[in-house]
Amino acid sequence: MLQISFSTHTQPTAGALAILVPEGDAQSAAFQAFDAATHGALGRAAKAEGFKGKDGTSCVVLAPSDSFERIVLVGIGKADDVDAWAAEKAGGLAASLLGRAPKAALAVGALSGVLAAHVALGAVLGAYHFGLYQTEDKDDKKRALAELSVLSAHSAEAQEVWPSLLAVARGVVLTRDLVSEPANVLSPVEFAERATTLRAHGVEVEVLDRAAMAALGFGALLGVAQGSANEPRTVVMRWNGGKEGDAPIAFIGKGVTFDSGGISIKPAAGMEDMKWDMAGAATVTGLMASLALRKAAVNAVGVVGLVENMVSGTAQRPGDVVRSASGQTIEVLNTDAEGRLVLADVLWYARDRFAPRLMVDLATLTGAIIVGLGHEYAGLFSNDDALAVGLADAGAFTGEKLWRMPLGKEYDALLKSDIADMQNISGGRAGGSITAAQFLKRFVGETAWAHLDIAGVAWASKAKNGQPKGATGFGVRLLDRFVRNGFEQG
Ligand code: BES
Ligand code: MN
Ligand code: ZN
Repeated sequence: MLQISFSTHTQPTAGALAILVPEGDAQSAAFQAFDAATHGALGRAAKAEGFKGKDGTSCVVLAPSDSFERIVLVGIGKADDVDAWAAEKAGGLAASLLGRAPKAALAVGALSGVLAAHVALGAVLGAYHFGLYQTEDKDDKKRALAELSVLSAHSAEAQEVWPSLLAVARGVVLTRDLVSEPANVLSPVEFAERATTLRAHGVEVEVLDRAAMAALGFGALLGVAQGSANEPRTVVMRWNGGKEGDAPIAFIGKGVTFDSGGISIKPAAGMEDMKWDMAGAATVTGLMASLALRKAAVNAVGVVGLVENMVSGTAQRPGDVVRSASGQTIEVLNTDAEGRLVLADVLWYARDRFAPRLMVDLATLTGAIIVGLGHEYAGLFSNDDALAVGLADAGAFTGEKLWRMPLGKEYDALLKSDIADMQNISGGRAGGSITAAQFLKRFVGETAWAHLDIAGVAWASKAKNGQPKGATGFGVRLLDRFVRNGFEQG
């Protein structure tokens, strides 16, 4: 992970440097100082490129002087409009453009210390690369920037805020690492093993194996798991940073380590994407790590259901009927609608065991949410308006945007089965994400609950907003902010 330091005084005279430039203020002090040091090369380059400091734009100036190998100008938009998300985007873009230098500096100009720290967070996440399986001499691996010195007029304030954002960065990196791992490495057992590393940060971690889940009546989850040679797991993570006895808030994740579709098998094209069908569980795990690392003053519990959905002689058949932990029976008409079966049991369990004040689940649940919202917004479904607003606000703050979708009894009626309490698909293609959410709703009782369908946002096929392509870690920053905004004492 990129190492960050903050400083007020050091003015680099050599190496690689990025400068954040506000729109309409290309003559900011930082810009002027370095423009003078490079005999006007920055001004000339900005003019030639038409660079004006607009949000999301940049200008790379190679070898502007004898000693600087590279100076990158990164636009942050109008100075008054710069918020945390704009700062993170600019930091990410800067880090991604700094090139091969192992060490570099980033001048943030007049931004507040808090925003400077958000720039640093963006830089850490923008420099992320999952290089585990690239042998040493591959270009991609060499690219990695290792140390970044953030130059800020408010470095003391930035330094003060940084540890709590570094905790978030580490959570997002954990989530991205889990999501990036191929399914031959990250089985349910391996995922659970990695979750146990959170014990080092003070998280209580319990792992339920097949027998424990059978004893709890997890027939829906176990039905999905029965076609795989890999054993399923449920992991319970508890961070008790709040008042003793206060009801926790609960985060629940879909952890399908590979989704072949089962007997209702998926087409070959793009099936490799289904290694990241555990992104919901990875987000919950990364979030729990973040909360623990920054010692959040909250009681939180994370529950993730981990299974592999495979095709075999023992696999579940279309038409099978399973009994969920809640006692409700389900006719499995399509074995590819497996995420909701996994969540049915873990949602019920979380509610039943912890009586949480609210529950939020995350799941790469439906292709239909990508049809509806594309790759910009995750779908938000909730039975509680205040909870929905709190989540949407946190999403707007962090740039992990949510769009509320409806629930209603007309949709619920589509789940009626001829032989069981419900069927796991509605039959038609209409409203696929909504009927999936209606299915989940049957397992949360009266608890305030929200479901985030992250199928469109968990993975990026190209770099965007200063973030690399691949696993995004969507949801960690959002839910960390949600907790900070409304659930921490003192
Ligand atoms: N994991 C998929 C949803 C998905 C699709 C996630 C694309 C990420 C990218 C889920 O298990 C699934 O297969 N859903 C089906 C439901 C259908 C059978 C009702 C779908 O969306 O096609
Ligand atoms: Mn599926
Ligand atoms: Zn799935």
